[in-house]
This record gives sequence, C-alpha cells and structure tokens, in this order.
Amino acid sequence: MKLRIAVVYGGRSGEHEISVRSAKSVMAGLDPAKYEKIEYFIDQQGKWSPRPILPEPGAQPDIDVVFPVLHGTFGEDGTIQGLLELADLPYVGAGVLGSSVSMDKEMMKRVCAERALPIVDYVTVTRENQDPAAALAKLPFPLFVKPANLGSSVGISKAHNAEELQASIACAAQYDRKIIVERGIIGRELECSVLGNEQPLASLPCEILPSREFYDYDDKYLLAEAKTQLPADLPAEKTDELRRLAVECYRAVDCEGMGRVDFLLEIATGKLYINEINTIPGFTSISMYPKMWEQSGIPFGALIDQLIELALDRHRRKKATRFAR
Ligand SMILES: Nc1ncnc2c1ncn2[C@@H]1O[C@H](COP(=O)(O)OP(=O)(O)O)[C@@H](O)[C@H]1O
Ligand SMILES: [Mg+2]
Repeated sequence: MKLRIAVVYGGRSGEHEISVRSAKSVMAGLDPAKYEKIEYFIDQQGKWSPRPILPEPGAQPDIDVVFPVLHGTFGEDGTIQGLLELADLPYVGAGVLGSSVSMDKEMMKRVCAERALPIVDYVTVTRENQDPAAALAKLPFPLFVKPANLGSSVGISKAHNAEELQASIACAAQYDRKIIVERGIIGRELECSVLGNEQPLASLPCEILPSREFYDYDDKYLLAEAKTQLPADLPAEKTDELRRLAVECYRAVDCEGMGRVDFLLEIATGKLYINEINTIPGFTSISMYPKMWEQSGIPFGALIDQLIELALDRHRRKKATRFAR
C-alpha cells in the first residue's frame, strides 16, 4: 500500500511564499509509485484548507506521515510539531524542543556554548530595555542586530556606529521582544546539510557569496544575484572540521530528521563560527539543503524517502516509551 503523506505548507509567517515554493518541490519529489500526497494549505491568516489537522490521536486515519514545509514562526518553531505530537502523527524533521531551541537564536547560542561550540560573541537586549551600553562595552563594530526568533534576514541590520546601533535595535524590536547584538564577522558564509536521527550525517558544505553587504532578504529571494559554490572551496581539514561542527550543533540542539547549519569563517583568524541552524530549510528546486545532498550522493527523491523513513522511525521509537505507570 502507498504511504499517505500530508504536506502542510503556506502558513502565517513572513516566509509564506517561500514555503509554497518549497512545498511544490517536495510534492513533485514524492514518487507517485510509493506515495499518495494530501495537501494541507494554511493561508496567511492561519486558515487551513481543505480542513485542519485535529489534535486528537486517531482523528486523521488517512494520514501516515506529515511533512511540514513551513518556514519560520508557527512552523519551524515547535508549534506545528506540538500539534502533530498531540495528534500522535509521525512527522518529518525536528521535534518540539529541537525546533523551538533552533528557532530562538539566543537559546541556540546558549546550548552551543554549553558544549563549547564556537559561536560569535553576542549580547541580548529586549524591547523594554533597548540600552546598547553592554553591547558597546563588549563588542567592536561592525555589529549585527537580529530579532531572536525570525528568519530570512527579516529585521536584521548591520550597524557601523552607535547611532546606527540604536536604530537597528529599534528596528529589530518591531519583530521580537528579544534582540541579539553580535560581533560582525568579516569572512565567508558556509552551509552544511545534516540528515538523521540517532546517527546524523553531514553533507559536503557549500559557500554562499552574497551580492550585497550581507545575505539579506532581497539577496535571498528577490535579486537572484547571490552566487553559490558547491562544494565549498576549502582545505580538506576545514571541510572536516565544518562537518563535525555541523553534526555537533545538530545534536546539541536536539535536532532530528534534517537541519541546515550555517557558518561564518573569519578571514583574519581562519576560525569557523556556527551562525545558526534551520530545522526546516528551504526546499525549492534551487535550495541548498537538497542540492548539498545531491552533491553528496543523495538525489532529491531518495532524500525525501529518507526523511519519511526517519519520521516513521522516530514515531516507532516514541511508541516504545511509557508515558504513565
Ligand atoms: N555575526 C555576523 N557577522 C557577519 N555577517 C552576519 C552575522 N550574522 C548574520 N550575518 C549576515 O546576515 C545574514 C542573516 O543572518 P542569520 O543569522 O543567518 O539570520 P536568518 O535566520 O534571518 O537567516 C547572514 O546570512 C549573514 O550574511
Ligand atoms: Mg540565515
């Protein structure tokens, strides 16, 4: 019998359009000989069609596995994962904790720091207390200012002086009540795909060559001028180090299924820093997550097969857990 895969996409986040594009490519990659696909579209107001997934176990007898292709808020942050846990449905990608820790740039850094993984120096400010004094005292310019819980570079800016810093904080504060101020790294941007549950594997890395001062929203989605280099042109030891760090970061945040770990490589010191992890990375036909796997020997269709198998595997393992005496 064919596995029935529910692809949930769209959603209320600013990454709605990207989610639609990613979902189209995931659906095109589901081999019709093996899978039957069921589409669950969520519009920008949060309305589901043709119907919502209900939280009661057994309420969706026609679904075998859910593939959430929702980027950002209400999708990549543990919320939809919570719904799917309640419904007792197997689903692709990280669970509730891994999703929410990975989504929050500050929690992610704290978890990485606890394992002595290399992260960029940062200071946290809040919407209520936007005082930049601590950042000014601790960090040199240029600085990057980010809302803690967003993606696609929305609300992120680079500050070159105290005046710009104040404006950047005010800008980021529109998007989150927690704001990260971090040291700007002058260097290269690298990415690595990770796949797996208990034994995660890292792909060959790629390099992103932004066409602007940094990899901002326009560069990611509108200009199509950023270049990529796959595999990244790095000495073998650096590639090894990067792949090892990608897996360590993935484990540290309790990620499962898939994740794309993004790095900054500082030119002056040659040091690699983990910038962030994305638990539902872009999945469009030109997205780097699937492309890095393709380059590493796992073509798109086989990648989808593995992700579905990992979802079923986790669900089976969870079934072996007792939740009561
Ligand atoms: N500390 C930093 N130093 C240099 N560039 C950075 C730094 N942090 C972010 N950037 C730039 O900003 C982009 C977006 O930041 P990122 O943390 O990846 O947020 P998002 O989750 O929105 O992708 C990065 O791809 C990079 O170009
Ligand atoms: Mg990023």
